[in-house]
Amino acid sequence: MANTSSRSSLLLVAIICISLAVAAARNKLYQTDNVQESIAIPFTGANDSICKSMVEELGYVCQEHKVTTEDGYILGIQRIPVGRSGKRADKPPVLLQHGLFSDSVIWLFNSPKESLAFILADNGYDVWLANSRGTKSSLQHNSLAPNDPAYWEWSWDELAAYDLPATFKYVHDQTGQKLHYAAHSLGTLIALAAFSQDKLVNMLRSAALLSPIAHLDHMASQLARIAAEDFLAEDLYWLGLREFVPKGQEAAKLLEKICSEPGIDCSNLLTAFTGTNCCVNSSRINVYLAHEPQPTATKNMIHLAQMIRAGSIAKYDYGNEEGNMNHYGQPSPPVYNMTAVPNDLPLHLSYGGKDTLSDVKDVQALLDDLKDHHVDKLVVQYRDDYAHADFIMGVNANQVVYDPLMAFFSQH
Ligand SMILES: *[C@@H]1O[C@H](CO)[C@@H](O)[C@H](O)[C@H]1NC(C)=O
Ligand SMILES: *[C@@H]1O[C@H](CO)[C@@H](O)[C@H](O)[C@H]1NC(C)=O
Ligand SMILES: *[C@@H]1O[C@H](CO)[C@@H](O)[C@H](O)[C@H]1NC(C)=O
Repeated sequence: MANTSSRSSLLLVAIICISLAVAAARNKLYQTDNVQESIAIPFTGANDSICKSMVEELGYVCQEHKVTTEDGYILGIQRIPVGRSGKRADKPPVLLQHGLFSDSVIWLFNSPKESLAFILADNGYDVWLANSRGTKSSLQHNSLAPNDPAYWEWSWDELAAYDLPATFKYVHDQTGQKLHYAAHSLGTLIALAAFSQDKLVNMLRSAALLSPIAHLDHMASQLARIAAEDFLAEDLYWLGLREFVPKGQEAAKLLEKICSEPGIDCSNLLTAFTGTNCCVNSSRINVYLAHEPQPTATKNMIHLAQMIRAGSIAKYDYGNEEGNMNHYGQPSPPVYNMTAVPNDLPLHLSYGGKDTLSDVKDVQALLDDLKDHHVDKLVVQYRDDYAHADFIMGVNANQVVYDPLMAFFSQH
């Protein structure tokens, strides 16, 4: 039973993850033996900081920093200021932002030659790793504890309005330099939301967006859509839970429900949801599962579900005029206008033909919003064989994605 529900919750993670790396398991995850083996491997560094457990042992210098947001969350962030060669960074700071259900480990868990954080450090960049509120490094708050319901009273609106600005400002202040930004999935949405309000851009050199997320209404995955509908139909129930734990029982129950829907083939869940990742090393999945998935706020899940259904890029919808009036002073939630992203902001977008979460049509809708962007400030890379997880976990992403990304950084 325990195994079944563990397996179910792993599959569920694949379903609803927008920054999803569990897709790494790819075909292998369907084999029960393999999954059990994955889960059984203990992670010895469970209480260690990310620097200790993932970075220092490989010969890099790593520092743990704390950043407090305006609404009181204390975020743990890591810095790798010296690469393996022992040479101190001589290039600008780069801030890496993970997506939903993950944390900064997502940039670290392939080999140093394959992981973006290490590659940047070895190429002379001063690497900073963000961790959103609610993840293992960022569970503290000035006055709330994670078991207070109010601790989980947020969606990606707050990541864009508080976490990202606090982290940007901290890196900017510490280094005295403008930064490059690189993000995956939900990490791209929160940045675009901030940029569209002309925020952060004064501290920014350029931004590289991998598997960009903005419009979500073409999301190809039927299964993700059903999960989204469940969150919306049962929103009061889900909101009562406050914290959404992907490895938890509630997640497993949701999966069972989805799998009983007619026409849904749960034997092919991972591929059906995330797309077929061409290039993920399935032997690394154990390392991933030792750290991830990380919890998020249920309110964040509902917010994303609202976007999948409505196709709008707007703030969290309180579901009725009164609720929205109370929060926003208007009957419907304010919209994020992607056309308002400053036209001269250097942007690099990288998306894949097999990605069913960051769907090609949705990325094209975003590119359409950006159609007046200065041509020399916008680089768009399309990779036909890539799906969602390949951009951060692909064994050839160093050549396919990170080389062009660093070439772009070096121009700005
Ligand atoms: C790890 O942390 C957990 C929760 O804080 C604690 O219960 C456990 O004793 C710790 N384990 C070690 C080896 O320090
Ligand atoms: C895949 O992961 C395994 C286990 O960590 C490792 O030994 C192997 O070198 C990796 N393969 C590639 C192509 O990175
Ligand atoms: C969105 O931003 C663009 C560019 O600033 C502006 O022209 C347009 O009117 C805005 N649209 C809305 C609905 O506010």
